[in-house]
Amino acid sequence: MTTNANAAGTWQLGDRTVNRLGYGAMRTMSRSDGTPSDRDQVIGVLRRAVELGVNHIDTAAFYFAGPRSANELINTALRPYPEDLVITTKVGPGRDSSGAFHQVTTKDGLRGQVEENLRQLGLDRLEVVNLRIGQGLDRGTDSLRDRFEALAELQQEGLIRHLGISNIGADHLKEAMAVAPVVCVQNQYGLTTRREDDALIELCAEHGVAFVPFFAIGASVPGASPFAPADETGTDVVAEVARAHDATPAQVRLAWTLHRGPNVLAIPGTGDPAHLEENVAAAGLRLTDEDLSRLDTIG
Ligand SMILES: NC(=O)c1ccc[n+]([C@@H]2O[C@H](COP(=O)([O-])OP(=O)(O)OC[C@H]3O[C@@H](n4cnc5c(N)ncnc54)[C@H](OP(=O)(O)O)[C@@H]3O)[C@@H](O)[C@H]2O)c1
Repeated sequence: MTTNANAAGTWQLGDRTVNRLGYGAMRTMSRSDGTPSDRDQVIGVLRRAVELGVNHIDTAAFYFAGPRSANELINTALRPYPEDLVITTKVGPGRDSSGAFHQVTTKDGLRGQVEENLRQLGLDRLEVVNLRIGQGLDRGTDSLRDRFEALAELQQEGLIRHLGISNIGADHLKEAMAVAPVVCVQNQYGLTTRREDDALIELCAEHGVAFVPFFAIGASVPGASPFAPADETGTDVVAEVARAHDATPAQVRLAWTLHRGPNVLAIPGTGDPAHLEENVAAAGLRLTDEDLSRLDTIG
């Protein structure tokens, strides 16, 4: 099985080309049991990801836990950044020094978050910024217009290259597209989670927008701890398909998302070097029509 992230092909985020198999940095701060990660190990994971062809990394300034910050780890591991690397970050949720979350909605607050990401990542411009709305995994129904307009102004100023939105529904996508071009939507989605977004993936495709699922492997249940271990729903079928391909269940879940459409990008998160190799190799896993039908029975 191939181990290069380019095996699933590429997608355009505006004028930037990324391999469809990317990496999510949320797991760099902590292990699945919530204890701090091994700093050297996760720096090694980030460097290995890039060696394996990953050129799309998702992060956020609010990804910090105890002594670890995902942005600092990315900065330390990967600067000077490879030219083809697209680091996507997100703003909206803020965290105070105790780690508690709150929503940042004001123009000044959003500017502060963009500047914080620039400083932490050591960049003059952020390649992609997602406006994340809603509390936790509950998608908000409130208008995102004012907040998205604030980010569009920062884009005009040259602090942001491309804009995306996260934790949203179809109406939010339409609302945002009326303000400024949207290159990606980042939502919770997987084989057994949030399948109502099947239609949103198609809507994104119609508009050339990437759909970037999070928790494609882990925490399938809305409201579950973000540190919950891999999803167990439909384990038997997933395991059987995995065995037939000499693959793992996590690889099947990732490959399944990549089979949803050419505009679907994967950003699996891991702090484990072996899991990283496995996840990148999933870019080369081709599921048959029969596999996809069987997997659909549990979706
Ligand atoms: N926009 C948003 O609101 C939002 C919310 C959450 C996350 N995100 C982004 O989405 C990314 C993806 O979510 P995620 O990090 O939760 O990733 P995920 O792909 O859903 O699952 C990660 C979980 O699965 C485990 N895992 C990873 N690879 C595995 C493998 N090959 N075999 C078995 N277990 C494996 C990880 O533990 P190990 O570390 O032990 O491998 C971790 O417990 C995040 O990193 C973050 O960048 C965005």
